[in-house]
Amino acid sequence: MYNYAGKRAIVTGAAHGIGKAIAVRLSDEGCAVALWDLDQARLQSTLKELGEGRGHNAQVVDVSDLDAVKAAFAATTAAWGATPDILVNNAGIGRLASILDVAPAEFDRTLDVNVGGTFNCCHVVVPAMRERGGGQIINMASWFGKSGRPNSLAYCASKFAIIGMTQSMAIDLAVHGIRVNAVCPGTIDNTDMRKQADAEAAVLGLPPAAERQHLIPLKRLGQPEDIARAVAFLISDEASYMTGQSINVTGGLWMN
Ligand SMILES: NC(=O)c1ccc[n+]([C@@H]2O[C@H](COP(=O)([O-])OP(=O)(O)OC[C@H]3O[C@@H](n4cnc5c(N)ncnc54)[C@H](O)[C@@H]3O)[C@@H](O)[C@H]2O)c1
Repeated sequence: MYNYAGKRAIVTGAAHGIGKAIAVRLSDEGCAVALWDLDQARLQSTLKELGEGRGHNAQVVDVSDLDAVKAAFAATTAAWGATPDILVNNAGIGRLASILDVAPAEFDRTLDVNVGGTFNCCHVVVPAMRERGGGQIINMASWFGKSGRPNSLAYCASKFAIIGMTQSMAIDLAVHGIRVNAVCPGTIDNTDMRKQADAEAAVLGLPPAAERQHLIPLKRLGQPEDIARAVAFLISDEASYMTGQSINVTGGLWMN
């Protein structure tokens, strides 16, 4: 444990899956967490699990909508009476589809949420971090951001972009005491994205992730908590000489 008592973190896509595990971990570390997500019902139940009265708050927000992000930021900072130390850009979507299957609107939506959402949140939060003299940003990429994968045109495009944004921001913001890193999860179980990918794989006649785990050197699917541990480390002082990195958490499935 790192002990982040007194720190404030915004986590996007925090109602479920990896984002929820990150929110729980940061709360356990003592952070006040602002949970941002589209899904109002799950957001409220996650907030309840974290426990109210500890500086946690929840905002219904579509991260692809800049005005909605500005409103969520205003509500979050009003609830805290302060600006955040940590921003975790985790919200993301993706569907199995090749260039032959992906509709233009779906391509745009994937980029709008995954890349535009990361941009919008950084655009709104970074000036406040600069003003307070530092901060930590973690972007959720993927091993699909390091290697082109089958049936993943829009998703790969978005995750490659996130790694590029992470590196560019890390250079620009180092002078302001802001470190920017990315995490690249492998195949993570207990997420809606995994359920959806398995269902789409079945339609394509491909095996589900559980049947492919023998290909993972550590011989198991990842859990959301595996990713939350990496996030907790990257924002800690133990990682104080790390910025612009995109860390694989894949059980060895991807090593570059
Ligand atoms: N599950 C995996 O195997 C895996 C692997 C690599 C990377 N990732 C990445 O991890 C991140 C989290 O995904 P997950 O696997 O936990 O999936 P998930 O679907 O379980 O959770 C995603 C959360 O993001 C929210 N969300 C979606 N669009 C949003 C929007 N426009 N605005 C605000 N919130 C929005 C959803 O409501 C949901 O709560 C994503 O960026 C995903 O690309 C997942």
